Amino acid sequence: MTKILAIETSCDETAAAVIEDGQYIKSNVVASQIDIHRRYGGVFPEVASRQHVLAIDTVVQEAMTVAKCDWSDLSAIAVTCGPGLAGSLLVGVNMAKGLALSTGLPLIGVNHLEGHLYSNMLAIDGNVPKIVFPALSLIVSGGHTELILMHGHGNYEILGYTIDDAAGEAFDKTARMLNLGYPGGPAIQKASQHGNPHAFSLPIAKTKRTYDFSFSGLKTAVLRIVQKYTENVYKPADAVKAIQMIVNNFPTADLAASVQMAIVTALLEKTMRATKQFKVKEVLIAGGVSANILLRETMTKTLQLHVRIPPLFLCTDNAAMIGAAAYWRYVANDFAEWDLDVMPNLRLS
Ligand code: KG4
Ligand code: ZN
Repeated sequence: MTKILAIETSCDETAAAVIEDGQYIKSNVVASQIDIHRRYGGVFPEVASRQHVLAIDTVVQEAMTVAKCDWSDLSAIAVTCGPGLAGSLLVGVNMAKGLALSTGLPLIGVNHLEGHLYSNMLAIDGNVPKIVFPALSLIVSGGHTELILMHGHGNYEILGYTIDDAAGEAFDKTARMLNLGYPGGPAIQKASQHGNPHAFSLPIAKTKRTYDFSFSGLKTAVLRIVQKYTENVYKPADAVKAIQMIVNNFPTADLAASVQMAIVTALLEKTMRATKQFKVKEVLIAGGVSANILLRETMTKTLQLHVRIPPLFLCTDNAAMIGAAAYWRYVANDFAEWDLDVMPNLRLS
């Protein structure tokens, strides 16, 4: 039995988890900073790292207590070492190093994106079927949008990524233009409920490289529509703009639904194309945006393949996924040295 304590502090969630054999969640503690960052309309890096410092100790203690785990029960300490905010990553990496040093346990550095992928490998009910390779992965989060061909565990080929905004960023930024608040993904999803997704025809970008993504055109198109209704008040969030939106009957629900449809369609088209070209055996979707109901339904209904999407509580940042990804490194004896550093721009391959 292999128990790994995993720590995740790459962005605005301070998280720790104990994972057994790469799939059983013994504990999964997440201290979210969303309420603090909401007032800034996005993650404020300096504030994020300070909050991690305040929370990390309690979060790790709680993960150990909930898992009824003793330090001697553990096989390794795993931590996200990138990509992410440098100051935030540093808190987790130094905590993990300190724990590994004082307990004599091996240290494992985990790529945050690999963590998101392995959130699909955590057992929720029953055992998790092994991945059949080649598999296609779509990672859609606040910072990343990547299509990856998985040839085996830890063997990744990047097919494409976003050349400007990530899908989550597109949700966040357009939500801000529509005065819907932060984080934008859930806000747009909620506002879309009574909207017509075909009310506005929004651009779906063509990119030079087949599997890259681009969401900046969509963002500009939404801005133009907002400006029409608000007499060119430019600022993304502005009281005058908010009033003009009400006075001019701004079609928030229709525009939100159209934005959601445009983002999901762009993700679906490229994913579908890649499944055919590379004859993949299954698809893994992960990252904060994979919590989106329209995306989940569209992908599962349209792709004629086994599609894995994590349960909602594992879509956004957590440490359970880091423990799941770390297990495969543990099995491969892939341990970090004491000079493990944070890598804010770490890539998967
Ligand atoms: O993976 P994540 O928690 O953090 C990063 O690693 O970036 O993803 C956060 C992103 C945010 O942009 C948020 O708006 C988006 O995930 N998100 C959603 C939904 N829930 C979270 N986007 C669309 N629909 C949702 N339901
Ligand atoms: Zn993430």
